[in-house]
Amino acid sequence: MIPFNKPYLTGKEAHYLYQAVYSGKISGNGLFTQKCQKYFEDTYGFGKALLTTSCTDALEMAAMLCDIKPGDEIIMPSFTFVSTAVAFVRQGAKIVFADSKSNSPNLDENLIEELITEKTKAIVPVHYGGVACDMDKIMFIADKYNLIVIEDAAHSIHSFYKGKALGSIGHLAAFSFHETKNIISGEGGMITINDNRFKKRSEIIWEKGTNRAEFFRGEVDKYGWVDVGSSFLPSEIIAAFLWAQIENLNLIQNRRQQIWNQYNVSLKKLADKGCFTIFDLPQYATNNAHNFYIILNSLEEREKLINYLKDNGVLAVFHYQSLHESSFYAARHDGRPLPNCNRYSACLLRLPMYYELSEKEQDYIINLIQNFFNAK
Ligand SMILES: Cc1ncc(COP(=O)(O)O)c(C=O)c1O
Repeated sequence: MIPFNKPYLTGKEAHYLYQAVYSGKISGNGLFTQKCQKYFEDTYGFGKALLTTSCTDALEMAAMLCDIKPGDEIIMPSFTFVSTAVAFVRQGAKIVFADSKSNSPNLDENLIEELITEKTKAIVPVHYGGVACDMDKIMFIADKYNLIVIEDAAHSIHSFYKGKALGSIGHLAAFSFHETKNIISGEGGMITINDNRFKKRSEIIWEKGTNRAEFFRGEVDKYGWVDVGSSFLPSEIIAAFLWAQIENLNLIQNRRQQIWNQYNVSLKKLADKGCFTIFDLPQYATNNAHNFYIILNSLEEREKLINYLKDNGVLAVFHYQSLHESSFYAARHDGRPLPNCNRYSACLLRLPMYYELSEKEQDYIINLIQNFFNAK
């Protein structure tokens, strides 16, 4: 069976894990954590980077940093992972879902303004598949209405908008290093803080509501409970694993890009014939080859293709179910239909994409898809 995803080990993980374990400090915020954070800040221009145990945690931290309170409204796409919404819902917020664009699963920036009310506190754009939302438009609206922008950059390491790294543009951003992402640490994530007003407090919320980070730097002579918070920082073991991945980031990215381009070139003919859609990148965005997906013409066709691929040993998978129709949120949603979101929920299909996918395996997958459509 060719899996949908296979976590890639660069070879150095065990070495750094050993170093972390025998360094005598395996709790959080040690040397590996600091090396990873500095690398991300220096490479991508993030105002401040803090590793977390997941992107979900980074989003929860963001919601706490923004002081989201019951009744506050948060605008986000419905075509996203549960965590994007749940991080704000647990603070009591109401989620106002915006539809996706007709030519991209990203939220439609032109729909945001009409959803803003006196209660709106933040916008959470999700860069689906690591392809940027139109951040100039979003930041302009946020500025106009004094809203906070939290980029859900779970898929978006090493991807750019008009030359700026994703995660460096919003006031805050959240990344994932879950084993399905481009670089991984099993579970893992990062919050980036680009607005100075959140920097000091971010370290406190990260460290259970204490000023322990300041204490470690020798800036205060004792530490104590100063705010709300939780245990958001990962152990050094996770950071050590991530460091091995970071060292190989360019290698990983080059291979993923090759695989992405091969799918794109090989499947273009079928897309031109109308068998399915492959989207072009917007001019303002780069592609970090997080995933490769096609949009089928119907749910039935997607099911047939998934089954055909599975019968031939290939695992291709759909993605998010519309959050506004989920059993948890459907009754809370304001009833607006979100047709583009529903189309992606029903028709989007992701093909196997991982560093070790061989050329032979990829040719096999592409041939299967060609056979499926040519036999019709
Ligand atoms: C858009 C989006 N946001 C957040 C998350 C949560 O990431 P994590 O598993 O690191 O908590 C995911 C998970 O894949 C995601 O796709």
